Amino acid sequence: MVQKKCSTLILLIPLNQIAQLVVMKGAADRILDFFELYSKYPLNQLISNIDVESSQMQFIRISKQVDSKNVTIGYVPITINTGNVKHNGNYNIFTLSPYHHYISYGRVELEINNINKWIVQFTNLIIDLFSYFFIWTKLDKTLIIGNLMLSTNLYNNLYNIKNNLLENSGSTMNQDDFLNNGTQSILYNSGNIDSQLKLMNTNYTLESLNQIEDNELYSELTKFLTSKFPQHSVMMRSLNDKIYSPILNTLSKIGYCPIPSRMIYTLNTLDKDTIQSTLKKRDVKDDKKLLNKYKNSYTIIGNNELREKINDMNHKYIEQMVNVYNMLYIGKYSECNIQFSKLFVYETLKNNIINYKCILNNERDEIDGVIGYFIKTFNNTRVMTCPVLGYNTSVSAPLYRMLSSILLQDAIHFNVFFNQSSGASIFKMNRGCSPAVEYSSIYIKHLPFYRRLPWSLLNTLINYIAVPIMEHYKL
Ligand SMILES: *[C@@H]1O[C@H](CO)[C@@H](O)[C@H](O)[C@H]1NC(C)=O
Ligand SMILES: *[C@@H]1O[C@H](CO)[C@@H](O)[C@H](O)[C@H]1NC(C)=O
Ligand SMILES: *[C@@H]1O[C@H](CO)[C@@H](O)[C@H](O)[C@H]1NC(C)=O
Ligand SMILES: *[C@@H]1O[C@H](CO)[C@@H](O)[C@H](O)[C@H]1NC(C)=O
Ligand SMILES: *[C@@H]1O[C@H](CO)[C@@H](O)[C@H](O)[C@H]1NC(C)=O
Ligand SMILES: *[C@@H]1O[C@H](CO)[C@@H](O)[C@H](O)[C@H]1NC(C)=O
Repeated sequence: MVQKKCSTLILLIPLNQIAQLVVMKGAADRILDFFELYSKYPLNQLISNIDVESSQMQFIRISKQVDSKNVTIGYVPITINTGNVKHNGNYNIFTLSPYHHYISYGRVELEINNINKWIVQFTNLIIDLFSYFFIWTKLDKTLIIGNLMLSTNLYNNLYNIKNNLLENSGSTMNQDDFLNNGTQSILYNSGNIDSQLKLMNTNYTLESLNQIEDNELYSELTKFLTSKFPQHSVMMRSLNDKIYSPILNTLSKIGYCPIPSRMIYTLNTLDKDTIQSTLKKRDVKDDKKLLNKYKNSYTIIGNNELREKINDMNHKYIEQMVNVYNMLYIGKYSECNIQFSKLFVYETLKNNIINYKCILNNERDEIDGVIGYFIKTFNNTRVMTCPVLGYNTSVSAPLYRMLSSILLQDAIHFNVFFNQSSGASIFKMNRGCSPAVEYSSIYIKHLPFYRRLPWSLLNTLINYIAVPIMEHYKL
């Protein structure tokens, strides 16, 4: 099955994820709700394999001076690692731990690709060496700006945080409403966030923000972070060069170094004409037929219906959503993946932070498949990512293809138009996705030589060896 397979033998490739990113028009975003959620509960109650002794989240308040008053213009969450790679024998999740991202993924990639066993043994030996080296040089002593801890972080332009100015507005607004209310920005209830952000350890006022430039803001932020946490490298994840190149460029200008982290698949929607040809693709048509074929055995339900039926986090649907997600992601490769709790699913559903679509088995009244996606605007482009995907792998119906069809349908519903792509004949590409390299940008200039070393090494290995191999094999 396509979705279980990592796309390559190189260490930086993701496990699965359908339609990683969909570029869309006509939908609003509400990413701040994740921050609200993360400030409300201990992180390991939401994602059960977060090691809160190794990592924590803090919020930095950015304010500017207006008429001699300090006005908050936004909050930036950062995750901060102590630098311990293992705690109580467990790794932290890969979205917090660069060590885990590079080393453990590497091992899993080796396991699940059919590679000659001598090569596997040899490579494992090399990975072991790197492993010790990365531990010794404290690769994991890092802090990550804007980290949602999901497989993909989405961003506003940082200065667009202005759009989220603290005013009263519908944080309980119905998801469909705000998705259709394209031009409306989602504003925030100040009473709420201020009381919740009592958890904040850090206030920061940027007096120089009267005319905010990205450059300035990022460099001020970096200056602040490196002075406050002089032992930590500073990092931003999930920066693909199709959508976030302005951030990548800004960061590079102020001394960050972009290091490829994985390959993702994007659907570009900006050209309306291309929808026709994509919809004519055979696989897309076939997937859609499947939904029709199974329409008597399955019902597709979204947030509204789910919310009507679900009153607490112990409802069987919540449990089933978690179970089918786990069935796909946890188990053999559990070290690599994020274990969402029932609380996480319940809260993101109840507050419409994530838009869920479930495939409900009519006969058994059980959820056999689930997708969960959310949207964020960057430079007038709506970007969608789908952090939750799961289905009952022991069911014979082609649930994965049905789910991916639902995702495409929703994208179309929200005026998404797919860019036709050429390239390797893999699942996503046959459905209009095109690959992009995703980077983590890292700032290490303030660190001593031995701490910069592992990053320089990773940079060399990945940029000059892994990426050319990937590109050559179209992995
Ligand atoms: C604004 O913030 C600066 C820096 O923290 C502080 O010195 C100043 O007193 C603040 N001004 C007001 C009006 O709160
Ligand atoms: C936009 O949101 C408002 C308030 O929730 C709602 O009444 C209206 O119908 C929405 N407009 C669209 C086009 O969905
Ligand atoms: C942050 O700012 C608030 C309000 O200005 C203040 O009450 C609080 O003590 C500050 N916290 C820190 C850690 O400076
Ligand atoms: C925003 O997007 C437009 C159109 O895609 C592009 O021309 C422009 O350069 C982008 N702005 C920035 C700051 O990258
Ligand atoms: C479609 O994708 C291809 C390859 O990624 C790109 O070269 C082209 O500019 C895109 N077309 C549109 C209209 O976005
Ligand atoms: C998967 O489906 C089978 C029936 O085919 C059912 O017995 C089982 O409980 C389901 N597992 C999950 C995790 O939903």
